[in-house]
Amino acid sequence: MRTDGWPRPKAVCNREVSTLTDTSQTQPFTNQSILLAKRPTGLPDASTFRFETSAVPSVQDGEFLVRTLWLSVDPYMRGRMNDVKSYVPPFPVNEVIRGGGIGQVVASRHPDFEAGDLVTGELPWQRYVTSRGRGLRKLNPSLQPITAALGVVGMTGLTAYFGLFEVGRPRPGETVVVSGAAGAVGSVVGQLAKLAGCRVVGIAGSDEKIEYLTKELGFDAAINYKGTDLREAVRAACPNGVDVYFDNVGGDITDAVVFRMNDFGRIALCGQISAYNLARPDVGPRLLPLFVMRRLSAQGFIVSDFSSRFSEGLQRLARWHQAGQLKSRETVIEGFERLPDAFLGLFRGDNVGKLLVKVADPVHPAG
Ligand SMILES: NC(=O)c1ccc[n+]([C@@H]2O[C@H](COP(=O)([O-])OP(=O)(O)OC[C@H]3O[C@@H](n4cnc5c(N)ncnc54)[C@H](OP(=O)(O)O)[C@@H]3O)[C@@H](O)[C@H]2O)c1
Repeated sequence: MRTDGWPRPKAVCNREVSTLTDTSQTQPFTNQSILLAKRPTGLPDASTFRFETSAVPSVQDGEFLVRTLWLSVDPYMRGRMNDVKSYVPPFPVNEVIRGGGIGQVVASRHPDFEAGDLVTGELPWQRYVTSRGRGLRKLNPSLQPITAALGVVGMTGLTAYFGLFEVGRPRPGETVVVSGAAGAVGSVVGQLAKLAGCRVVGIAGSDEKIEYLTKELGFDAAINYKGTDLREAVRAACPNGVDVYFDNVGGDITDAVVFRMNDFGRIALCGQISAYNLARPDVGPRLLPLFVMRRLSAQGFIVSDFSSRFSEGLQRLARWHQAGQLKSRETVIEGFERLPDAFLGLFRGDNVGKLLVKVADPVHPAG
């Protein structure tokens, strides 16, 4: 009889079942999920989410069971809570929310995955999930820390890499400004722009973040947008004007930067987090006459536009990261039940670097 606490597979097995003993799990048959309870208007709150418990699913032939270790909370997930046509479909109401994550295979009846393997990709906000492997890949064992796969050597890093180099197209000596600069994407953008030989100015929401940007990440200047005359601060920080603006935020911050753009300046529109919780869109036209006078161009992009080049991007990011040229900080919230509040923390500016939720520790295979 099995004594490892894992559910016995129901179906007859045509390959050996590999399992992993999990000594830290006190209720091995209980699963927990977080669903979208209703579509929020404005800023989501606790009533947007619903917790459910269920049995841990049994593993069928061709499947493996993943225990969730880490989940990424990302601003784009707010857009998926709205019922609007976008580049990703909305989360259905009363279904489990999904996002980037890292898990460990704890039981397998799949030929390509073994108990103990670490996997990454889209995971549900759920402690355990069965998979046939679609949308999940094994983690590169040389990547340290493994959470870099959700940040600097993952979608975050790729967004910064392609957004800056393919959309912003900075040249050595140019001035690059990035908003949301101390966050996951912004902190990578600034460092990449420094590697490209640019003068780099970051905009972020606290003095602690400003110090992080200038003292740890090597930004040339940084502006705390709270309680500042932003136009004056951008003018002072960018004496030669702005050539490339990497926009994560939008709103008043973007207005202040656009006023300082040089002729033929480029704006890489990555995100507009200041608008994600607006009940009504903030309609323009705003500064379009300046776009004409200065022949500016602004291009929105989604990281998946560059999916055919992801392996190139990941290789370069991993090399810089390994060499210590690309630093990354993580803000880690511990506990599955804290996922909704961690997500809301993105809109309070709680994080420096990538915001992650730690759900469980990996189990080390015996022997
Ligand atoms: N286009 C793409 O493919 C793509 C991919 C990934 C991410 N994105 C976008 O990139 C942006 C950054 O994403 P991320 O994952 O790196 O998040 P993040 O920057 O790590 O976290 C969000 C940060 O935004 C700032 N913020 C929140 N509300 C704000 C407001 N009203 N005004 C000004 N700043 C505000 C906060 O920092 P402060 O303390 O500085 O306010 C917060 O820490 C988001 O807009 C996201 O949607 C786009």
